[in-house]
Amino acid sequence: MTANASAAREGLPIRDELRGQTPYGAPQLDVPVLLNTNENPYPLPEALVARIAERVAVAARELNRYPDRDAVELRTELAAYLSRTAGHTVGVRQVWAANGSNEIIQQLLQTFGGPGRTAIGFEPSYSMHALISRGTGTGWLSGARGEDFTIDLAAATRQIAERAPHVVFICSPNNPTGTAVAAETVVALYDAAMAAGPSMVVVDEAYGEFSHRPSLLPLIQGRPRLVLTRTMSKAFGAAGLRLGYLAADPAVVDAVQLVRLPYHLSSVTQATALAALEHTDTLLGYVRQLKDERDRLVAELTAIGYEVTPSDANFVQFGRFADSHAAWQAILDRGVLIRDNGVPGRLRVSAGTPAENDAFLDAARTVFKEHSTASDPTGPARTEPTRTEESA
Ligand SMILES: Cc1ncc(COP(=O)(O)O)c(C=O)c1O
Repeated sequence: MTANASAAREGLPIRDELRGQTPYGAPQLDVPVLLNTNENPYPLPEALVARIAERVAVAARELNRYPDRDAVELRTELAAYLSRTAGHTVGVRQVWAANGSNEIIQQLLQTFGGPGRTAIGFEPSYSMHALISRGTGTGWLSGARGEDFTIDLAAATRQIAERAPHVVFICSPNNPTGTAVAAETVVALYDAAMAAGPSMVVVDEAYGEFSHRPSLLPLIQGRPRLVLTRTMSKAFGAAGLRLGYLAADPAVVDAVQLVRLPYHLSSVTQATALAALEHTDTLLGYVRQLKDERDRLVAELTAIGYEVTPSDANFVQFGRFADSHAAWQAILDRGVLIRDNGVPGRLRVSAGTPAENDAFLDAARTVFKEHSTASDPTGPARTEPTRTEESA
């Protein structure tokens, strides 16, 4: 989006709370190594591509009809996937699907947030929680994290008690830091939210499959206001598909029907997602490789001398840098695009293929001397993490 376009936009009678805001926008640059948006670097296997073609061909013969509005077959298979891999059995009535987990988040905010209501997230975290809140007229409250990027439970429960937000976002593993949230912390935040007022707690587990810890899905049992969100964009290597889903009490699934657009999930999307779910075991094999590569990135960045935030996701946050944007540019100049999320002194790299990670590590080694302050005890004073500018 150009400066001219945003100036022109400001001339329109857009809603006050959207004025001066910046749209989401991770740079999409044409460079040899792309490690900036936490995508899965492995293209779908050929057998799956062929199966998608078959399933889409069947769907195409009925494109004159609207798709299954309730996506029952897809939700049944998503429920089976969760039941098999996430430590808790869920049924079709507990699962809902939409175009990416961003749309799931939007539906949740349209249902439970909105004008006169607030949502809270513990930042730095996924910037779209705040952006979609604003887009739905929901007030945004920025909760803080501690020095080590974990949620400071005492501060968080105090904020929830004082502000009584209507929606509480807990991102685990957290984007952009990679930090997993302990089940006990989620339970404590849930209890605080229930005590504070009518509230929903949303656990964003977009990177759940990459975690060292078990899924937080079992926590929905007996907690009717806890929602777990997932996506096929990361572990399933299908960011282009746009398929996200939630698991929660059936009443939550019923509630989001009030705001979902009719026939929101196209027949083509449903057919493609069903084909991908048939190949779950192969795709989870790539996840295992990516977890190994993530652990290698952590080990090698640490060996170089960087300060590395422990990661449960398919990306790694590292620093510190006196000027993280200059370090980002220096790495880009070596043909590797990573992410500057606006976390002071830190950058984030997505785990790629071994060859992509080697290219990144070479660049990271080269820029270390000039840009990093990690091993320099007299380096610039630590700045507290602030609100994330961009985080996808
Ligand atoms: C924490 C988190 N949640 C949700 C999403 C959105 O994913 P989707 O592609 O399913 O909309 C992302 C994407 O980067 C993410 O990082």
